[in-house]
Amino acid sequence: MNKKINISIVGTGLMGLQHIKAISKSKKVNLHSIVDISNNSKSLSKKYKIPLYSNVNELLNSKNLDAVIVATPNQLHEKHTISFLKNKIPVLLEKPISDNINSAKKIISSANKNRTPLLIGYHRRHNPIVSKVKELIDKGKLGNIVSANVLCWLYKHKAYYNEKWRISKGGGPLGINLVHDLDMICYLLGSIKYVQAFTSNSVRKFKVEDTATINLVLKSGALCTLNISDTIVAPWSYELTAGENPAYPKTNQSAYFIGGTKGSLQFPNLNSWYYKSERSWWKNIFDKKYNIKSDGNTLVNQIDHFCDVVSKKIKPKVNGNDGLNSLKIFDAILKSVKTGKKIKV
Ligand SMILES: NC(=O)c1ccc[n+]([C@@H]2O[C@H](COP(=O)([O-])OP(=O)(O)OC[C@H]3O[C@@H](n4cnc5c(N)ncnc54)[C@H](O)[C@@H]3O)[C@@H](O)[C@H]2O)c1
Repeated sequence: MNKKINISIVGTGLMGLQHIKAISKSKKVNLHSIVDISNNSKSLSKKYKIPLYSNVNELLNSKNLDAVIVATPNQLHEKHTISFLKNKIPVLLEKPISDNINSAKKIISSANKNRTPLLIGYHRRHNPIVSKVKELIDKGKLGNIVSANVLCWLYKHKAYYNEKWRISKGGGPLGINLVHDLDMICYLLGSIKYVQAFTSNSVRKFKVEDTATINLVLKSGALCTLNISDTIVAPWSYELTAGENPAYPKTNQSAYFIGGTKGSLQFPNLNSWYYKSERSWWKNIFDKKYNIKSDGNTLVNQIDHFCDVVSKKIKPKVNGNDGLNSLKIFDAILKSVKTGKKIKV
């Protein structure tokens, strides 16, 4: 049997904890240690019987470290990630790659210079449902993609906003929820050329948006609309339909609707629509459901993939440039909101 990969987690907050749980379910990995400055992490260190380090240098001086997961706040991604890459320690870096484009470029250049793998934590790409959608599109089952409609409508409860950062810049649904969808759209449909976006805070009245609509023009010529709100009672968001996180009770609805010249597909519930003979709105349209189970273990799949990147030297499924790409689109969306103009990505 292959040797297990020893992984340390830097930052054991909300997301770091999810990674600890995923590691405990993976057969390919050992939890080596954790790094955090918070007192809460002492109980984690006791629970999992692993060393707790208070900074990255202490971890770098430890023995038998193979790789790390960086799940600290976005503003610290550059500093933490580069210190590992310089020491040739592969990094699974939580999304977004960083809080700004220059910093993201520095991270990518360090990974290249040190020839050390960097995997960005867009974990949805490790969901078998998403792989099936990608396969169907790439095989041309939908024909040429003409348009896509993506919904992220959900209702965040009142107590969620007790954390003040969630009602200040970057804490709204654009900063929290949208980047995953941007990565997914690029993965499935290709690069984005132009964006135009509008936001509203008319329901919650916080400084930050509660709702946004975004138009995307893809390099392929296809068009896409994204409609996102955290103040709509509705079942149509990836979060509430993919079953990836038990914190969000799953509905059997969909969040993505992708339309092509031969057929259309909605997912996560994987229902597709097509004509059996002549394509005509006067003929019966048929539907077919693909039965691919989302195993609820997307983070475990991601960890297993990261271990293969480290041990078998396969290429990361989501690399630094993918991370930079979604950050650039996000940046263009914010510019469009500010200026009211269509922005080139
Ligand atoms: N993939 C996803 O779906 C997803 C979901 C949530 C968050 N995230 C990402 O994960 C990262 C962390 O977000 P979070 O919600 O877990 O934040 P969080 O605030 O809950 O956790 C951050 C942790 O980092 C620790 N920390 C802060 N400074 C540190 C330092 N100098 N050294 C070591 N530890 C330090 C904090 O004490 C805290 O425990 C962010 O990049 C966020 O965007 C990803």
